[in-house]
Amino acid sequence: MDLLELLQTRYTTKHYDASKKVDEALMDKIMECVRLTPTSTNHQPYHFFVLSGEAKDALRPGIKDFNMSRYDDSTYAVVIANLKSLSESHLEAVLEADEKAGRLPTAELKEAQAKSRMFFANLHMENGDFNEWACKQAYMAMTTMVYAAAAYGVDSTMMEGIDYGKVDEILELSKKNLTTSCVVTFGYRAENDSNQVNIRPKSRLTIEQLVTKLK
Ligand SMILES: Cc1cc2nc3c(=O)[nH]c(=O)nc-3n(C[C@H](O)[C@H](O)[C@H](O)COP(=O)(O)O)c2cc1C
Repeated sequence: MDLLELLQTRYTTKHYDASKKVDEALMDKIMECVRLTPTSTNHQPYHFFVLSGEAKDALRPGIKDFNMSRYDDSTYAVVIANLKSLSESHLEAVLEADEKAGRLPTAELKEAQAKSRMFFANLHMENGDFNEWACKQAYMAMTTMVYAAAAYGVDSTMMEGIDYGKVDEILELSKKNLTTSCVVTFGYRAENDSNQVNIRPKSRLTIEQLVTKLK
């Protein structure tokens, strides 16, 4: 399917068919797409918790009432968590990945890469906005997630309608220097889901309202 067509037809699922389950291998493929999300300085300051079964049920206290039925009827919930502050061990892991990928053929390049990534991370620590910056990167991943799902015919719901503190607590995120950015659920739409684009047309501002071309 053409990307534009995909974006025109993807929508936020409000009612899932609980009897239709997303295959684990397909969910893994969606997460593999998410792994490729671009981030500032390739910092990848996040971690994803893919919940199903009892682990997903255990997160229910962290979900706002108005989202509960869609949460319950979905197959998977992904908690996107972002780093709260600069972590040297995380930076080392990213550098190791760079090295394994063959991007750092010399010791000088490795040092330069480590320094520049540390420089940007430190800037956000000094500005006091590291958490906010990391959360922005997490939202990039959220976008990848829902579009990847749509490309594979899986429906999804991005959820800010959550109790962030509760989700943090249930997954014991602060111990891991993480905090919740967002939750996304995955499943298959109920036949009569009222938010489908053929029932409730998609609405956006016009291209003229949104885009100014300056030449
Ligand atoms: C960051 C974010 C948080 C959202 N939170 C919720 C939510 O908690 N519950 C819900 O049903 N929809 C939620 N939505 C869905 C939006 O309302 C929806 O994306 C928007 O109205 C556009 O509709 P569409 O996704 O169907 O094109 C969220 C969307 C985004 C991007």
